[in-house]
Amino acid sequence: MNNSVNNVVLTPPTGPVLLLIMDGWGIGSGGPEDAVAQANTPVFDRLWGKYAHTELMTHGGYVGLPSGKDMGGSEVGHLTMGAGLILDQGPTRINKAIADGSFYESEALEQVLSIEPGKALHLIGLLSDGNIHSHLTHFRALINAAFERGIRRLYVHALLDGRDVGIQTAQKYVCELESDFACINDNDGFDYAFASGGGRERIIMDRDGDWSKVEAGWNLMVHGEGSERFPSMMAAITRLREQQPDLIDQDMPGFVIVGEDDAPIGKISDGDAVVMVNFRGDRAIEITEAFELDDFSGFDRGVRPQVTYAGMMVYDEDRNLPVLQLMGPTKVDEPFGKRILELGIKQFRLTETQKYPHVTFFFNGGYRQPLDPTMEDYILIPSDKKVSFADQPQMKSAEIADKAVELIESGQYGFGLINFANADMVGHCGKIAPAITAVEAVDNAIGKIIDALQACGGRALITADHGNAEEMQVQDKSGHVEASTKHSTNPVPCILFDPSYDGSYKLHQPRDGDDKALMPGLSHLAATLYAMMGKEPPTDLNTSLIEAL
Ligand code: 3PG
Ligand code: CO
Repeated sequence: MNNSVNNVVLTPPTGPVLLLIMDGWGIGSGGPEDAVAQANTPVFDRLWGKYAHTELMTHGGYVGLPSGKDMGGSEVGHLTMGAGLILDQGPTRINKAIADGSFYESEALEQVLSIEPGKALHLIGLLSDGNIHSHLTHFRALINAAFERGIRRLYVHALLDGRDVGIQTAQKYVCELESDFACINDNDGFDYAFASGGGRERIIMDRDGDWSKVEAGWNLMVHGEGSERFPSMMAAITRLREQQPDLIDQDMPGFVIVGEDDAPIGKISDGDAVVMVNFRGDRAIEITEAFELDDFSGFDRGVRPQVTYAGMMVYDEDRNLPVLQLMGPTKVDEPFGKRILELGIKQFRLTETQKYPHVTFFFNGGYRQPLDPTMEDYILIPSDKKVSFADQPQMKSAEIADKAVELIESGQYGFGLINFANADMVGHCGKIAPAITAVEAVDNAIGKIIDALQACGGRALITADHGNAEEMQVQDKSGHVEASTKHSTNPVPCILFDPSYDGSYKLHQPRDGDDKALMPGLSHLAATLYAMMGKEPPTDLNTSLIEAL
């Protein structure tokens, strides 16, 4: 993107400046799979037609991910927006550390690999190459490290994905690790195997205090308890799919792998080591608490095994969880929220709890609690529990909008960040009709907020962290069409709502012939917010999108 022309600073507004994230709302083909295009969105359409707008890129190198094939996610999206810069994200840093060997040299990994002979190393994690929470290559790096160290027993407790990858792809990843295990097990005395599994929506990877999911996973892994018992991972997936051919991997019930005697083959026991392979924290915190906290009330753990527990990265910086981290955190030196705090600008963050990490520690580049509670209000509306969001596509959008109006009208705030989860959370269910309703609910909510801003002279940047609902179906190379539950690599809309807009500026748009590297992305939003607040953006941030016409 050309940096020289983006020097327009708007006159200070008389109301707050908001960043409104329509999570999972991308710009799609307009075809039958595009729930955003099919939805009735009068508010969005009016704003897009009337105010300065552009399209933003949210994937691959635009947000610091390893490859242009990597779709964006809410963690990397919010972190990039908050940083105002493109930083190497967790998976990029891990890949580089594996490639240069430093990954194998950490003190934390040394402790994990130092188990007594006869004890086992357990890997828990999302078994896919989605690169949103985890990557198969990271499992492999750990398996190789364990083998080279001579660890004889290694067990994988696999969370099946179908949410960041194709809906029924679990076998592919299972096959890959099983062939690694077979080679290793050719050596005398080695036992590397899958020991338990289940869909990520059913066990362990909760992020909203539904401890029953974590408990179900704990009981499988630690106590070997579960009504579904299979002789191998492949047998489990095949059998469960026979029973329910439409079952998406994320929804597979949890199961234990047992030997001929029906005994679990790899329970987590005293003296073992456990690595949580996921690099992303939001859905890894709860299981980490179960392993690490002495004072724990999530559920009755029974006898907690004494293990060496490590996480791929830090999952909760405020509490330094887990204590052992294979990789240090991705550091954002001056996140937007901290910068404006230093300018004395009062701010709020508002969403429902499914997206609580997004507006707090992802956007903050680490910290989860306000740095100054007198200047920062983090308002989290409890999400519906134990429902499929396909059955509740409105989610908490109306409540969020009402609260936002109240906060705007209070006249106390200079900045607010709001996330609407609908298009993403319902998009992850893979059903088009509810996804359309989800998009319409967000449109309606945005309308209420815009009316309140109009009344007080506030401004809003309305955008998304990545696409999802605009791509509810995908076609593979052979022409087979199936539901899509994952994010997309499509661009997202970005509109600058400004009640005093007089047509004198625009948002940067790629010019004809620009190559992809010149497309604007999420890293430009922090500087844009400064310019919207009537402030010169700091020169170390990526440039503002606002250009004179
Ligand atoms: C999830 O955790 O629900 C998905 O893997 C990613 O979704 P998010 O990045 O939008 O939270
Ligand atoms: Co999502």
